[in-house]
Amino acid sequence: MSKIAVSTRVNGDSAEFLCDAGESLLDALRWKLDLTGSKEGCGSGDCGACTVVMDGQMVCSCLVLAVEAEGRSITTIEGVAEGGRLHPVQEKFLELGALQCGFCTPGFIVAAKELLDRNPDPSESEIRYWLAGNLCRCTGYDKIVRAVQAAAAQMRQEGAAA
Ligand code: FES
Ligand code: FES
Repeated sequence: MSKIAVSTRVNGDSAEFLCDAGESLLDALRWKLDLTGSKEGCGSGDCGACTVVMDGQMVCSCLVLAVEAEGRSITTIEGVAEGGRLHPVQEKFLELGALQCGFCTPGFIVAAKELLDRNPDPSESEIRYWLAGNLCRCTGYDKIVRAVQAAAAQMRQEGAAA
């Protein structure tokens, strides 16, 4: 079967790849663009390990066709740190031990950053509700929620000082 050429933007850079019609965006990111931070936990939209942002919308990249990336702008976990500095969500996950095996972590961080971009001061229930599509089999979630709260507080503080 002939391949389809896709031109897209990933983490601010233009990116091009050839894919099959039924190939997922997750597979294209991982195997065509070498962006292996997004993980495949289920391949069916249930675990959130493959979460990326496409044109401002969080999506499970395992459920998006690679061809749908044409002309879109995608942010993956590799695009979350900026200018050599980890994002506050990443810093707090490390500082507060909000990960164990780390398989779910890229999805949680992409989702948590998206939440804090929209709502700088979410309540605990808002955080839990927002992250309900991300599954973790290791941490029990409490440390993840604490890390997001701490990142939000740090971002508000940095915003106030700027
Ligand atoms: S791998 Fe996409 S939601 Fe689980
Ligand atoms: S840290 Fe292992 S699945 Fe979340």
